[in-house]
Amino acid sequence: MQVAVFSTRSYDRTFLEAANAQFGHALSYFAARLDATTAELARPFPAVCVFVHDDLGAATLERLAAGQTRFIALRCAGFNQVDLRAAARLGFTVCNVPAYSPHAIAEHTVGLMLTLNRKLHRAYLRVRDGNFSLENLLGFDMHGKTVGIVGTGKIGAVVARILLGFGCRVLAYDPYPDDALRALGVTYTALEALLSQADIVTLHCPLTPQTHHLIDAQAIARMKDGVMLINTSRGAVIDTVAVIEALKRQKIGALGLDVYEEEERYFYEDLSAQIIEDDVLARLLTFPNVVITAHQAFFTREAMHAIAHTTLRNLWQLERGEPCPHLVTAERYLAAG
Ligand code: NAI
Repeated sequence: MQVAVFSTRSYDRTFLEAANAQFGHALSYFAARLDATTAELARPFPAVCVFVHDDLGAATLERLAAGQTRFIALRCAGFNQVDLRAAARLGFTVCNVPAYSPHAIAEHTVGLMLTLNRKLHRAYLRVRDGNFSLENLLGFDMHGKTVGIVGTGKIGAVVARILLGFGCRVLAYDPYPDDALRALGVTYTALEALLSQADIVTLHCPLTPQTHHLIDAQAIARMKDGVMLINTSRGAVIDTVAVIEALKRQKIGALGLDVYEEEERYFYEDLSAQIIEDDVLARLLTFPNVVITAHQAFFTREAMHAIAHTTLRNLWQLERGEPCPHLVTAERYLAAG
């Protein structure tokens, strides 16, 4: 199939080319983000392949529908960037990569916890500058601490297993509890109880209308003083302005983010010579107890290989009219809520 690959970076191309040896699609690469202004580029292509920052709102979809495009292959798990109702109305078939390596994201999540706890980000800079002082680098044992996991799907479940290995007490909140995790010692509670008991809160639920700003000022008020908050799910699951207020009051003692509400304006670009106009992001970057990574939790060799392979296999199945197990529909979106 002829596929227009949007938001292409060198690493996308490397992994897609390698996987395509098996599928033989005609892949055309565009560095541009797909949105209403770039949709014209896709006009002759039956399929587009997109990532987390591409904008598949109704305006983009209308323009795609005016051309040849009928298939939308997301090379990611989340599908909150697609207006699925508009996609259904316009006759698009949308597919994603629901699972590639939950370990990649889970391990990065725990990496953020350890970095913040032991202040490795500060120690690294300090020692390179010949400063071998331990002042203000005091951490705590993870062993025995209570960690609250919000969302125990594929990624949250791996996080739970890793933290059980550390000897943490693991609390979880999920509308669909996992009995296998219960058997390992995870305790499911109401969200309020989790927030009030956890030393570390880590978010692994999808972004839906129900989880938008799930962590707002009210939720933060329930948390322990000095709590560590980690978000590797989607930026808008937390109300960033409320989180900044809580950081200033030291209600939140450490913050680890791999995602940010307005990240598509910044993440995946080298903007080191430019001015950050987003005052919320700029303020976050000033705190010594905040570590931000630019949506890189998924970025391992294993995950990239699996993403490329599944994306191209999805398109191969759709081209042949074979059943594709990874279709994303509006019904599924509502069910996820
Ligand atoms: P999943 O679908 O396997 O698990 C999500 C879990 O959240 C499910 O168990 C679901 O019941 C639960 N959930 C739904 N609504 C909830 C709510 N209101 N409160 C608590 N739990 C709720 O998804 P998976 O693969 O574990 O991914 C989780 C999220 O991680 C994705 O939606 C995506 O946004 C994010 N993600 C981030 C990546 C990164 O690189 N930072 C990469 C991949 C995914």
